[in-house]
Amino acid sequence: MKSICVMGIGYVGLPTAAMFASKGHRVVGYDVNEKAVNALNKGEIIIEEPGLGALVKSTVESGHLTGSTVCPNDCDVYIIAVPTPINSDKTADMRFVRSATETLVPNVRKGCIVVLESTSPPRTVEDLMIPILEKTGLKIGDELLVAHSPERILPGKVIEELRTNSRIVGGINKKSSEEVKKVYESIVEGDIFLTTSTTAEMCKVMENTFRDVNIALANELAKMSEELGVNAWEVIRLANQHPRVNILSPGPGVGGHCIALDPWFLVEASDKAKLIHQARLNNDSMPGFVKKKIEKILNGFQNKTVALYGVTYKPNIDDIRESPVMNLWKLLKECGVNVRVCDPHASEKLEESYGMYDAAQNADIVVLGVNHKEFEAIDFGKLASVMRGKAVLDTRNFWPEKSVTASGLEYHLLGKSDNMVKWEN
Ligand SMILES: NC(=O)c1ccc[n+]([C@@H]2O[C@H](COP(=O)([O-])OP(=O)(O)OC[C@H]3O[C@@H](n4cnc5c(N)ncnc54)[C@H](O)[C@@H]3O)[C@@H](O)[C@H]2O)c1
Repeated sequence: MKSICVMGIGYVGLPTAAMFASKGHRVVGYDVNEKAVNALNKGEIIIEEPGLGALVKSTVESGHLTGSTVCPNDCDVYIIAVPTPINSDKTADMRFVRSATETLVPNVRKGCIVVLESTSPPRTVEDLMIPILEKTGLKIGDELLVAHSPERILPGKVIEELRTNSRIVGGINKKSSEEVKKVYESIVEGDIFLTTSTTAEMCKVMENTFRDVNIALANELAKMSEELGVNAWEVIRLANQHPRVNILSPGPGVGGHCIALDPWFLVEASDKAKLIHQARLNNDSMPGFVKKKIEKILNGFQNKTVALYGVTYKPNIDDIRESPVMNLWKLLKECGVNVRVCDPHASEKLEESYGMYDAAQNADIVVLGVNHKEFEAIDFGKLASVMRGKAVLDTRNFWPEKSVTASGLEYHLLGKSDNMVKWEN
């Protein structure tokens, strides 16, 4: 068994720490955030993730997992899982990776392993971390092994995916890759593929970029469909019958800590990333596009009230980072619109949030921003009875048109032209 320090106990670091602890390793969750560390030492969590609370509680109680605001100097393995956000000019903000790496210098010793899990621009290990780690005086790749092993977990399924996903381990040399593979073998049941650190960095960023570009295509299709008298969702359903086509879904934009940010790392790294850049711009334009659609449905924004259902960046989680629906909220407020938000998952993080039917009180339109499971059971008759207007805009193709219209409400769908040719029944 090894002693492992996970640096950064957020959405990625905490589940990783708890998984290693559950396999009998001694794990220290080191974080600069005292609140996160205090919660961990009480066996509690301050983020929402199914199964995580129980795993943290049991591993803290068994004594395998502890939290600390001081980086330990007696661990065998140091895993960096700190944020890699972007600056306002869309360049990578590598402050956290830099400071975590600097923290390591006085704390590592001969034989230690350092793994960067944070999603990072290609060449981060080679160009940013190694020059700092060289200050230890240890021979890199021999006395101090270094690798990048990107995390690819899906929020909401983190505990399962940490175990079952395949993993890429990109070492600074072969020895680093092989030793880091042995570390992950204790928690990963999927395949572990070995490569170079820069290839591993590029893989992770390209995986997210692939999805971003595909979603940008779906969003472009949605915009064109509204102009050309078709329903983008029907086009996608039919086109995806083709065995080699898989168009993802349009929506109010792309959010979260990963897909909305990582492609910018490539835009910054290489002026060849033209398509990637345009895809980012397309996806970032969606909150504005939805705002315009709402304005058109309401025929202007004079004294209007919008009930906005769901503001997280994806369904059934509490994460609002980079959420395009949060941007939509901001854009509507800037136009003087009264916005009443309902989000059962993120309510504690919001300046205001109403209950399911309270949000629709006197609303001129109900906009579904995120398809949380709670919204599936909505009673449209009850909604219609408290609303002032009649319009419903679904940005996720989640609510059945018939259920909406049966209650006397008007149904609008992002990506569907309001002037489509209707077949007679
Ligand atoms: N959230 C995801 O679903 C996900 C999935 C795959 C990859 N990633 C990547 O993993 C990395 C971490 O993301 P996250 O969502 O866990 O972030 P997070 O913000 O939830 O957690 C990061 C933690 O690191 C701490 N921290 C910051 N600087 C530190 C330092 N110098 N030393 C110790 N702790 C420090 C912060 O206080 C915070 O608690 C990012 O690069 C992200 O892109 C995230």
